Order: sequence, then C-alpha cells, then structure tokens
Amino acid sequence: MNVLTLETTCDETAAAIVTDRLEVLASVVASQDDLHERFGGVVPEIASRAHLERILPVIDETLGRAGLTLDDLDAVAVANTPGLAGSLLVGLVAAKTLCVAKGLPLVAVNHLQAHIYACRFGAEWSTGREHTFSPSKNIFPCVGLIISGGHTSLYRCGGPLEFDLLGATIDDAAGEAFDKVAAMLGLSYPGGPSIEQAAKAGHPDAYRFPRAMLRGSLEFSFSGLKTAVRYQIVGLGKTDFAKIKLPDGEVADLAASFQEAVVDCLVGKATAALRPTGMRILCVGGGVAANTRLRERLAEEATRRQIELHVAPPKLCTDNAVMGAIAVERLRAGLVEDLDLDVAPRVVRR
Ligand code: KG4
Ligand code: ZN
Repeated sequence: MNVLTLETTCDETAAAIVTDRLEVLASVVASQDDLHERFGGVVPEIASRAHLERILPVIDETLGRAGLTLDDLDAVAVANTPGLAGSLLVGLVAAKTLCVAKGLPLVAVNHLQAHIYACRFGAEWSTGREHTFSPSKNIFPCVGLIISGGHTSLYRCGGPLEFDLLGATIDDAAGEAFDKVAAMLGLSYPGGPSIEQAAKAGHPDAYRFPRAMLRGSLEFSFSGLKTAVRYQIVGLGKTDFAKIKLPDGEVADLAASFQEAVVDCLVGKATAALRPTGMRILCVGGGVAANTRLRERLAEEATRRQIELHVAPPKLCTDNAVMGAIAVERLRAGLVEDLDLDVAPRVVRR
C-alpha cells in the first residue's frame, strides 16, 4: 500500500510516499527559510502563499522520485492540526482534491503526534540522491517530548493512536526562544542551528541563566530565560539591540549558556515525566531535537537512568512528511475522514 503524506502546517511544504511497512519511497521538503529570514520569524500570509505555489511541484517531485503516478496511490494523508490556518488549508485542499479525483481515502494527521512518530525511523543514510530511513523501531508505550518552533509539550503515548497531554509550555516554545535569542545576538534565522553553531566556541557556564523548572508540574516556561538573555545583552531597561555589536567570544558564551539552560529544562522535565507515567521509553521529536548538545545530554541521562531513548533522526526532526507515516496506523484502525474534514489550528488536548 502506498500512502502520499502532505505537510504544510507552518513554513515547510513537504510530501512523502510511505508504504504500510513504513518504507519511505520518497520525501521532498521545500523550505521557506529564505522567505522568512529577514522578518526573524514565520510570516503567516507569506507562508500560505508560498505553500500554494509549491504544493503541486512538491507532489510531482515526490511521485517522480518514487517512480510512481497518482494511479499507484492507495490513500492520501494530510496534517490538518495544529498549525497556521492558511498554511494548513493549502495541504488539506490539495489532499481532498486528490482524494476526490482518484477516489482515495483521506487520512488526518496530527502534526504533534507525527513529530513523535518520526522516532520510529532509524538513522538516515544516503542512496544516491534519496535519503532513506532504516526499518521502523517499536517506540510505544512511551513518554513523548515534542520541541519545535510552535510547541513544547510532553505526552503520555500509550500507543500510536493514544496520546494524552501531560504538560506544555505556558509561554514560549523552546524553538521560539532559540529564534528570538538568535535575533538578539545578531545570528541568522532559524535561530536553533545558528545558536548551536555559535555555542561550539562558547562556555556553557559563562552566564548562569534561570531554569524555570516550575517545580512539581510538567509545564515549561522559556520567556523568563529569554528576558534574562535580553537584559544580559542590553543592560536593565535598555532595549536597542541595533546599537549593540557584541564581540564574537561574548556571542559564543551567551549562545552556549542559553542553550545549556534550555537543555537543562528539557532534559529535566522529560525525565520527570517518566516516573508518574511508569514509562521506560522516552521519544523526542520536533526541530529542537536536532540540537547536538540536547541529543548528547539526553543520551547521557538515558544511560544513567537505564531508559530506552529514541530521538528522531536529525532530518526528521524539523518539519517533513515522512513523519506523516502515522497515517498508516490510522488507516489500519479504519480511521478515514469525510470530505468535510476541516483544519484545526489550535492544539487539541488529546
Ligand atoms: O519542528 P519544526 O521544523 O517546526 C515547527 O513545527 O515549529 O521546528 C522549527 C524550530 C525552529 O524554532 C528552529 O530554530 C528549531 O526548530 N531548530 C533547532 C535546531 N534546528 C532547528 N533548535 C535548536 N537546535 C537546532 N539544531
Ligand atoms: Zn513541527
């Protein structure tokens, strides 16, 4: 069975074809980073227009790479929640149109659940120009940590169709904090990779930034940390970053110290969620999970606590359509949608 999966929740236009045995026949991601860079964040209207221009070429490219035509598809899956309303609509309308034209079942994908599902795929390797992913791993039941530009949440995942929210950020998402702090430091967008790069030359204990552990809860908070970095740069009460040119060494120290504070919070909360849920498996996905320092610290903690750790392969951490393979589980359970399926921009708590 061949399933075409579409992903347009934020600023990547992506399509993939996966089989019911979770083989990835093709995966294409058209990034919009260049369009949003000068604004230091995603501009929703620009994102939805770019999706409109790119969705059909991306689907064509995906089919071509897989060596398939629309007639070879057995289902179409699309991420319809959560995300930017205009962006979600482009993927949903494309998916519905293909389903009507070809008489195919429509499958709904929850983007956050899909970020966790990406952990089923092992490390990638390159075969010619395609990236393929090793056969699927068993990851359920687990605690799932999703860390992206828009979300930072912990879920109890009883199985591929059973996600219960344990806690989420009460203000900024981890990725958003990376993006905002990068902008303060004069680093490029998206902020995660540029902070990671700058941090390599810095000392993680150069500055002691706050870790909002919100003791006893599984919620996160990053806005205080962001403000602490801001005050460190501009001095209390001053706000004009444009006039400040920090020496490279200071940028590196600030980046490393900020990154360490985020990593401490993420590792601390994720491991704290294991005990009350009785889980021995931790799965981590979303763009921030590509961070090397976080991956190292998670691996150390997993060894120390003797838990099984699955972090999505770096290429499947940021938005992609391979993670939409979770649709195969829904298809198996008979969960197909009517054509009146709508987008749901906000997070559904379950
Ligand atoms: O999952 P994703 O592609 O999109 C959302 O669903 O939001 O995540 C994008 C976020 C951005 O905020 C970006 O700065 C962050 O992931 N990110 C990273 C790294 N790569 C991407 N954060 C830290 N370290 C990285 N290496
Ligand atoms: Zn995402």
